[in-house]
Amino acid sequence: METVLLPAGDAGLAEAARILRQGGLVSFPTETVYGLGGLARDPKAIRAIFTAKGRPPTDPLILHLPEPDLTRAVTEGWLSSPVPAAAVILSKAFWPGPLTLVLPKGNEVNPEITAALPTVAVRCPSHSVARQLLRLVGEPLAAPSANRFGRISPTDAMAVRQELDGRIPLILDGGPCPIGVESTVVQVTADRVEVLRPGGISTEEISKTLGTPVASRGATIKPESSQPSPGMLASHYAPRTPLYLCKEPIRNFLPGCFHLVFRQTQTNNPPLTLGLAPDGRLETAARELYRNLRLADASGAEKILVEPVPEGSWAEALRDRLTRASTGTAIWKNQNWEITPRSGA
Ligand code: TXA
Ligand code: MG
Repeated sequence: METVLLPAGDAGLAEAARILRQGGLVSFPTETVYGLGGLARDPKAIRAIFTAKGRPPTDPLILHLPEPDLTRAVTEGWLSSPVPAAAVILSKAFWPGPLTLVLPKGNEVNPEITAALPTVAVRCPSHSVARQLLRLVGEPLAAPSANRFGRISPTDAMAVRQELDGRIPLILDGGPCPIGVESTVVQVTADRVEVLRPGGISTEEISKTLGTPVASRGATIKPESSQPSPGMLASHYAPRTPLYLCKEPIRNFLPGCFHLVFRQTQTNNPPLTLGLAPDGRLETAARELYRNLRLADASGAEKILVEPVPEGSWAEALRDRLTRASTGTAIWKNQNWEITPRSGA
């Protein structure tokens, strides 16, 4: 199949809505990463999403809602009632935006979306293209990130093409994604709120909004244990080149290695080095992370070395993604980076 790339203007949006209504798939930009959308109520579209990504059917999808409205979601049968009070507070605080809520599913949700779980992940994105498209279609789209399973999420239209060329009919090009890492996934029940995947909104912001400390599983889960959220697989978001997390700032730049550093790159211009946060802001590092991982992967280097993530509000999401992208850690010893493989990588 030929994959067409259209700018996300009126004509592109109309064509995207037409394809979606007929059960086809469209990749579209959100504020976090590009999604691969299909009509949630069409079982054929849902199966096509899993096939295009090469994603196992045990890995549930996020339902993207046209409106930031939990009450409507219950009325339409996407969620079941009662919706926990904390979910209402969080949706009012952060929707539309990079927050995904895992809640008891309603009867209208196809079990193939939720991998037969009793819960469904829902979010209302804030990106204007995503919102316009959802409103045009007028009903939820199931949409995972538009990458092949286990690989780096795309944050621009060309990266989607790299991942899914020939597998989907249309990519809507809305430019680079402003956040650059996936949404925060939060599971809410009547008596517990838990961050399953750190992301665009920090655990601290969620705790502050609810006025109570909130648990976060982060990267602690082992691959062999049962997974409340398959994005929590220990290995995910990974480049093909082995990536190592350095235990100390990189002062020694080696040929054959690609260096991702958090400071300004040095004036002596070391080989294959990129500053993740040239302006000193972790927010920039998050926005550019996947693009930089793709560049490092395409460089032909034999290893990617990444400096420790400095403290800051985006550190949680960055550490989570980099840990999952990594094959191990590295310590500078005897004039070389000594590698320790990560268990479960
Ligand atoms: O920012 C995002 O969330 C992007 C954009 C496109 O919206 N989407 C995204 O989707 O990252 P995906 O499929 O790559 O990741 C969805 C995450 C996975 O970790 C999945 O396991 C989790 O949400 N998830 C979905 N349904 C769940 C459920 N019922 N219970 C627990 N986790 C669930
Ligand atoms: Mg994904």
